[in-house]
Amino acid sequence: MPNASAADARPDVIGAGILYHCIPEFTEYYDRLRQVGGHIDIVEYLAVHYASDPEYLGEVHRSFGEDMPSSLHSFEYMIGSVDRQSDKVLRRLRRQVELSNCQYIGEHVGLMGTTEVYSGTFLQPFGTDEQTQLFIDNLLDIEANDTAGCPLIIENQSQIYNQIGPRSMCEQISDIAVGADTGILLSLSNFMIAEKHHPMDRERELSSLPLERVWQLHLPIACAAELADPEYAGYRHEEEWARETIEQLFKEPGFRPSAIVFEVQDAGTPSFAEPEHLRDSMDWARELLAKPTP
Ligand SMILES: [Fe+2]
Repeated sequence: MPNASAADARPDVIGAGILYHCIPEFTEYYDRLRQVGGHIDIVEYLAVHYASDPEYLGEVHRSFGEDMPSSLHSFEYMIGSVDRQSDKVLRRLRRQVELSNCQYIGEHVGLMGTTEVYSGTFLQPFGTDEQTQLFIDNLLDIEANDTAGCPLIIENQSQIYNQIGPRSMCEQISDIAVGADTGILLSLSNFMIAEKHHPMDRERELSSLPLERVWQLHLPIACAAELADPEYAGYRHEEEWARETIEQLFKEPGFRPSAIVFEVQDAGTPSFAEPEHLRDSMDWARELLAKPTP
């Protein structure tokens, strides 16, 4: 029986939301979504977009309403590195949490460089036991010192090259989540991205995850009209796979995520999902979450 304390700490159901990119196109897109009766329950921000001006996150968040729950998407805690993140960055991230009613931070399980040589992004972890322990120790340290000001949950990455160690991507995520007692951000988008580089055994990966620890889901949503074009058939099949997978997961005991977040940017078609398509998809997500649509 897995340790289920991160499952116990998981927030009550929040609902459906979007990963919000800090570009004018998204402001306009959100307006169009509201015009067609779309409703979001949570907004997810990319922490790095507000790195140079964290106070601006507060301004953006107020446009959604200060009570709107948020989550921050981050790769900045350097949980895969022996070096630790600078206090300056940690203070900035904590300020972002304060400004955005942040419920939890989704941190990528990856390698980010060193304190002095910071890559600004993340690399796939190696899957070695030694490295898994490093992730666990860093997460426990962040938690013990309440460095973030809210819980950190960890996200499975896309595989882009061979594993070096014995553990596959999701096996390593599972080890880390259990070892550091964290929740999981299950990204189905990252399974799809891996397909272009190093396809993953999806069944095996999914079955290795402690499902009671999944706090949030990521899935892409593309433009439905463009997906109908044979040119984008691959993405259409992937979206269908993601939705069927999610519906199956909801039949599993213990699988009770708090939020389902749609990724509109880079979802496989040149155009964003139609606002009506996103609205209906969020209603579908709320139905799975047993959350009434307002
Ligand atoms: Fe991510």
